[in-house]
Amino acid sequence: MDNVFDVKGFEQYAHDRLPENIAAFFSRGAGDEITLRENTSAFDSIKLLPRVLKNVEERSLSTTILGQAINFPLLIAPMAFQQLAHPEGEVATSKAAQDHNVIMVVSTCSNCSLEEIKANTNTPPWFQLYIYKDREITKNLVRLAEASDYKGIVLTVDAPLYGKRIKELHHPLTLPPNFEVKNLKNAGLNLKDTPSTKLAGYLASLLDPGITWQDIAWLRSITPLPIILKGILNPKDIQIAIDNHIDAIIISNHGGRQLDTALSSIEALKFASSVIDGKIEIILDGGIRKGIDILKALALGAKAVMAGRPILWGLAAGGEEGVKRVLTILKTELDMAMALCGYTSINEINEEVLCFSKK
Ligand code: LAC
Repeated sequence: MDNVFDVKGFEQYAHDRLPENIAAFFSRGAGDEITLRENTSAFDSIKLLPRVLKNVEERSLSTTILGQAINFPLLIAPMAFQQLAHPEGEVATSKAAQDHNVIMVVSTCSNCSLEEIKANTNTPPWFQLYIYKDREITKNLVRLAEASDYKGIVLTVDAPLYGKRIKELHHPLTLPPNFEVKNLKNAGLNLKDTPSTKLAGYLASLLDPGITWQDIAWLRSITPLPIILKGILNPKDIQIAIDNHIDAIIISNHGGRQLDTALSSIEALKFASSVIDGKIEIILDGGIRKGIDILKALALGAKAVMAGRPILWGLAAGGEEGVKRVLTILKTELDMAMALCGYTSINEINEEVLCFSKK
């Protein structure tokens, strides 16, 4: 890993080492992967207009999200089955998250249990939830997160069905035998009769495609934890979330894995800026690969960003150390971008620094 100096390098390093079907599971997007590609290319088409002579010798990257202090404006995205990347899986990721004091959002489909993950970090994580057809399982998952002192419920709202991921159809994900999804087991879901080769598809079949804003009210009624909705793009849904006093929104297209040709996350953030207008905290998820991407998202009004695949590439490359390296790369690149743009703190970053290509 010593000769890897950027996230792109970690992507290559990980892909050189991961079995093809696991690399496909992590990297795949839906359909022709147009949204997957545009999540990153849309950042590159946003240009920067730096300011100079601003005395940037002292800089601070710390900020808060829902009042929780973090050392720089990044959260780790909820990603399933992290033991496919490294035997220590989500526990390794949580140790790296603590080292950088950034929030890890733990996937419902994590291999390690919520308790094991929490036991390895003092930076309180959040918990990613799906609403299942079986509301008892859903409620039990929320209780497990509360019992382990998780500080937020991130409800995924863009997966009534899973998208068509063609790469995975060519390289089906065969989970190793005795592969565990401990949270769902601990929440009472009987998985012992499900062969590991069918597990991913079976879990997808449990999601409730019928959820509406009434179910958000139900979730609110069963937990005092902050509710963050992940997977909103349309300004009309952002307005409904604001009207319903949702605590925060993660603008996301599920890493391009759901609806192909959905707008890229960063363009959706720009498109919704007049509705958002500081009325709700926004986390921008999708396409974050460089420190300048983080700066651009903050300049467009995000309070923080979320990174997924880069974390998995670091995990695959070197476990806890690999994730730490990826986080360090993103943090130091953001620090440099701030200095070169004339900023000394996160809350100074604003739209003045952006210049959109005329095409
Ligand atoms: C996926 C699910 C696990 O995108 O969120 O594969």
